Amino acid sequence: MSNIVLAGSSGILGTALTKSLELQGHQVIRLVRRPANGPNELTWNPTTGTIAPDALTNCDAVVNLAGESISSRWTNPRKKRIVESRILSTQCLAEQCARSNVPVLINASAIGIYGNRADEILDETSPPGVGFLTDTCMGWEHALDPARSGGVRTVSCRFGMILAPKGGALARLKPLFDFGLGGPLGTGLQWVSWIHLADAVGAVEHLLAQNATEGAVVVTSPNPVRQAQFAKTLANRLHRPSWIRTSAWILRLFAGQMADELLLTSQRCHPAKLCATDFVWKFPELDLAFQDLLNRQGLSGKDGSMISVPLE
Ligand SMILES: NC(=O)c1ccc[n+]([C@@H]2O[C@H](COP(=O)([O-])OP(=O)(O)OC[C@H]3O[C@@H](n4cnc5c(N)ncnc54)[C@H](OP(=O)(O)O)[C@@H]3O)[C@@H](O)[C@H]2O)c1
Repeated sequence: MSNIVLAGSSGILGTALTKSLELQGHQVIRLVRRPANGPNELTWNPTTGTIAPDALTNCDAVVNLAGESISSRWTNPRKKRIVESRILSTQCLAEQCARSNVPVLINASAIGIYGNRADEILDETSPPGVGFLTDTCMGWEHALDPARSGGVRTVSCRFGMILAPKGGALARLKPLFDFGLGGPLGTGLQWVSWIHLADAVGAVEHLLAQNATEGAVVVTSPNPVRQAQFAKTLANRLHRPSWIRTSAWILRLFAGQMADELLLTSQRCHPAKLCATDFVWKFPELDLAFQDLLNRQGLSGKDGSMISVPLE
């Protein structure tokens, strides 16, 4: 059994990861921003960098998934929170990991670091792009420096779009498709690099165990799809049409800068390090991922049996 300290544990990935680690017999201590409730929680303040000096003593690993959501309109105050919540939380934990001789710090990052890259195949060796998300992710990954220089094995998980049964991208998209309003965004030619929540959890656990892996790791399925195909696959699973195209200018009108950097951007990622370390995806194909996720919601019972992977 290992002692694992987890920040951002109340989020989509943090909740599923906590359950999975606990099921395997690990002790998970959650860093929370509210008053701690019980022996498995510790209070911290990532904004001021306040954490108990002994919070990471005898801890075998730290996983940091903290970060303000990027899914609402990017006003200037929100952009500030998006950046600071990631960089300050990471800096705080990186310094504390080095002081406490924690062996490994697994930190979230995102494929947003690559910017908009058309059909280019992107892996851990690809240079960053340009844009707000690129700058945010670069700062996020650099914030690990104090841990790295202190001898801690550090990993930046560049997550693609995490598809979960509750919350996240699927929860926002599904109502549109239910009303028959789903379809290509802009040209629909942009690449979407996605990952099923069970595989995102599995990848973090895999990286905890891979003592020789460090640095950036792309955490996506090995099968990215073009956005129009993504929409068509979801629509087929929901038995709904997917022919209503939403023009780029409408997306920009409603979502502002987020439209270009999240909805219309093209990132064709290849998870080279996960492949090289023999990670096995449970849901490498989008259609089966949607089948499983919709079955978990009890909303797609027509044509498939439940594929059982404990998530919640
Ligand atoms: N979901 C995706 O598609 C995706 C894609 C790429 C990268 N990522 C990154 O992967 C990580 C986990 O993703 P997720 O979907 O589980 O995120 P999430 O559901 O938005 O959860 C993130 C967690 O961060 C903490 N948090 C929220 N606002 C914060 C703030 N202002 N300051 C400090 N902490 C704050 C919260 O945990 P507490 O309340 O417990 O502190 C929250 O539950 C995030 O860093 C996210 O940016 C996610």
